[in-house]
Amino acid sequence: MRIDDLATPALVVDVDALDRNLAVMAARFDGASLRPHVKAHKCTALAARQVAQGHRTFTCATPREVVGMATAGVGEHLLLANEVLDHDRLTAMVEACDRAGIGLAVAIDSVETLDAARRAGVREVLIDVEVGLPRCGISPDAAGSLADAARRAGIEVSGVMGYEGHLQMVTDRVQQREQVAQSMAMLRHAHDEVGGPIVSAGGTGTHRAHVIGLGHPTGVTEIQAGSYALMDTQYEELGDGFERALTIIGTVISVNGRRGVADVGLKALGMDHGNPAIDGATVWFCSDEHLTFATPEGTGPVVGSRVRVTPAHVDPTIARHETIWLAQGDDVVGQWSVDLRHW
Ligand SMILES: Cc1ncc(COP(=O)(O)O)c(C=O)c1O
Repeated sequence: MRIDDLATPALVVDVDALDRNLAVMAARFDGASLRPHVKAHKCTALAARQVAQGHRTFTCATPREVVGMATAGVGEHLLLANEVLDHDRLTAMVEACDRAGIGLAVAIDSVETLDAARRAGVREVLIDVEVGLPRCGISPDAAGSLADAARRAGIEVSGVMGYEGHLQMVTDRVQQREQVAQSMAMLRHAHDEVGGPIVSAGGTGTHRAHVIGLGHPTGVTEIQAGSYALMDTQYEELGDGFERALTIIGTVISVNGRRGVADVGLKALGMDHGNPAIDGATVWFCSDEHLTFATPEGTGPVVGSRVRVTPAHVDPTIARHETIWLAQGDDVVGQWSVDLRHW
């Protein structure tokens, strides 16, 4: 089958670009120094490709991702890097990991999340520390006492995590390294009180700032990057050596002069980071099922032709699709299920 034969909108991954992205990151952070975040692709088959690059630990954002990874038997140790209170889902994660013989650690940032983890039979936790992003995470000063409470409850505390999401898009590298170093000083302060072998942080946008030898060693033991595998237009601005590997193929369904409308609307795209891109055209706006774009003078779009749309944010885009089509050039060479969707 050719890409042009796919029913649209179709999520298409350029397998060669994906493999190059995986190899670039594996050369920077090999083995367990990268704990790839599966929320960026929600696909166990893609995670297996990351295993083939030598990674064996994974980060998850939802219980569904943990259960799906464990059921597929991908990875040796999973981190739920998110706070969860739902007893049934926590229990399902523990059972799925136990069945698969896969290790599981759960992030906690309060006595309530500790208690929920304990009641569900979670045996290992990381203390989630706020390092500047006003989201989840306990203050660094309180991390030690939460770790003590967990140990008193008989739970292993294997370290700390802190996500510096507010720094992912700082484009000035020197500034970013300094800000990441400050943020990680907070995490290390917490780690001094908590102990344990794991100091987990980072993402695609900041991974470079964590490379030991750049002048600001941050003291982390692993990076949680995910988007690097498929990339999106926002991260592309950072120019870190990763390529766009994911596009949505759309069909032009209506034309008016230089203006075209493709069938790739809001319901096929994550729009929280802005409009998607179409090479050689200007995207005007997206509505539920439509993407309106304009082509340059003298190159009007044609009804029935195909467009390749690149999302600004890969994670929520993928979560809207059931299938990833694999392509080499214009040939479709396989398909993967987006099997880690939902919660
Ligand atoms: C806890 C956590 N770690 C790491 C990341 C980094 O992911 P990415 O590399 O896709 O930016 C995220 C992204 O939101 C996150 O929430």
